[in-house]
Amino acid sequence: MTFIQLILLIFLFLTRRVSSSNQLNLVGDYKLMSINIPKVLVYTYTDGFRHDSIPTAISMLNQEKDNWGVKFDFTEDRNAFRDDNYLKQYDALMFIHATGEVLDQQGQEAFQRYLQSGGNFIGVHAAVCGMYNSSVYKSTIGALFEWHPVIQEATFKRENTTHPATANVPDNWRFAEEVYYFTSDPRENGAVVILSVDESSYNNESYSSNSGHPHPIAWYIDPPKPSQPLQAGAVKGGRSFYTALGHSNETWQNETFINHVFSGLTWALDGASTRSYGSGLVGSEEARPPPPSPPPSSPASSVSSLSDPSSSVPVAGPTLPGHALQVTSDGVGMLGSTTVGVALCFLFGVLTGYYVIA
Ligand SMILES: *[C@@H]1O[C@H](CO)[C@@H](O)[C@H](O)[C@H]1NC(C)=O
Ligand SMILES: *[C@@H]1O[C@H](CO)[C@@H](O)[C@H](O)[C@H]1NC(C)=O
Ligand SMILES: *[C@@H]1O[C@H](CO)[C@@H](O)[C@H](O)[C@H]1NC(C)=O
Ligand SMILES: *[C@@H]1O[C@H](CO)[C@@H](O)[C@H](O)[C@H]1NC(C)=O
Ligand SMILES: *[C@@H]1O[C@H](CO)[C@@H](O)[C@H](O)[C@H]1NC(C)=O
Repeated sequence: MTFIQLILLIFLFLTRRVSSSNQLNLVGDYKLMSINIPKVLVYTYTDGFRHDSIPTAISMLNQEKDNWGVKFDFTEDRNAFRDDNYLKQYDALMFIHATGEVLDQQGQEAFQRYLQSGGNFIGVHAAVCGMYNSSVYKSTIGALFEWHPVIQEATFKRENTTHPATANVPDNWRFAEEVYYFTSDPRENGAVVILSVDESSYNNESYSSNSGHPHPIAWYIDPPKPSQPLQAGAVKGGRSFYTALGHSNETWQNETFINHVFSGLTWALDGASTRSYGSGLVGSEEARPPPPSPPPSSPASSVSSLSDPSSSVPVAGPTLPGHALQVTSDGVGMLGSTTVGVALCFLFGVLTGYYVIA
C-alpha cells in the first residue's frame, strides 16, 4: 500500500513538472514562463571604432546560450534592418559594440516598427557610439556616448538590488573598465538607472558632463518612447536595456559580468511582448523541447511516448516560422494538459474511493 502511494507521489511530482513548463506559472522564472525559445539578433556592425572584444563577446554568448534558454543569430549587415519580415522572427535585437551609423534611414524605420510591434532592444557598451542624428535610436537606448577617461579600475555602485541584471553584482563592483560619459542624462528618456559609477573612484581628468547623478552606467526603459504608438495587434511596447560595461576580453570572460548581461537580456525578453510568450507581432515561434517524460509504468506513459518522438526533435533554422513549429508547440501543450488531466482524474478517483489502493 505505501509502495503504491510512493509511486503515485513520484508520478504526480513528475507530471507537475511537465505542466509547469508549458503554462504561465507563478514562479516568475523566465525559463519556466517561456513557451518557445526566444531568438535574438546580435548586431556588431562598426563604421566607427571597432572593439577587439567582439569575437570574445560572440563566443561567450554561444557558450552560455543554452544555460539561459536563448538562441542567437549574428550579423554585421545593415541590410538586416531593411526588411520587417526578417526582423519579425526575433524577440530582441542586441547591439554589441556596434558603432557609427548603425542604421540608415530605412533601417531606422524598420527598427521603430519592430519596437512598435513589441520587439525588445539591448545595447552593450559602444552601442551608444553613433547615430547622433537619430532621436529614435537615442531615446530607445537612452543616451549617447560623449567621452571616457583611459581604462582604469573604477567602482560601480549597485542602485537596484532587485532588478535581475544587478541582483547578482556586488554593491561595490570594482574592476578595470572604460567609464562612459554621455551627452545627456538617460533619465530624460525614462531610464531607470540600476548601476552607477562612483565618480571619485577613478581619475576623471576633471571632466564635467551632463550625464546626470548618480552617474548612469546601466539602466532600463520600459517601454522606450519610440515603441509608441503601437502597431495594430501589438500587446505592449518592448523593453530596452543598456549597460556601458564590456570593453575588454577579460570582462566578457567574467562570471559576474556574464550574469549581468544575460540577466539584462532575459529581463528584456521577459516583458512578454513577443511571440515566444504567445503574444505580440514579432518573435520566435520555435517550440521549446519538452521536458523529460514521466516514468514508463505510469498511466500517462502511452500518451507521452506517442507524443515524444515528434515533439523532442529540435526544430532547425529560422526558415518558415509558424506552420511546423506551431504544430509542435501544440503537441507539447497537449502532452502537458493530457498528462495533468489523467493525473488529476486518477487522484480524484483515489480521494473519492473510486480507485481503492490495496
Ligand atoms: C581579445 O580577444 C581577441 C580574440 O578573441 C584578440 O584578437 C584580441 O587581441 C584580444 N585583445 C586583447 C587586448 O588581448
Ligand atoms: C547629422 O546632422 C548634421 C547637421 O544636420 C549633418 O551635418 C551631419 O552630416 C549629419 N551626420 C550624419 C552622420 O548623418
Ligand atoms: C528596481 O528594478 C525593479 C524592476 O526589476 C523595479 O520594479 C524597481 O522599481 C526598481 N527600483 C528602483 C529603486 O529603481
Ligand atoms: C569577476 O570580476 C570581479 C570583479 O572584478 C572579481 O571579483 C571576480 O573575481 C571576477 N571573477 C572571475 C571568475 O574572474
Ligand atoms: C571628477 O572627480 C572629482 C574628484 O574625485 C569629483 O569630485 C567629481 O565629481 C568628478 N566629476 C565627474 C564629472 O566625474
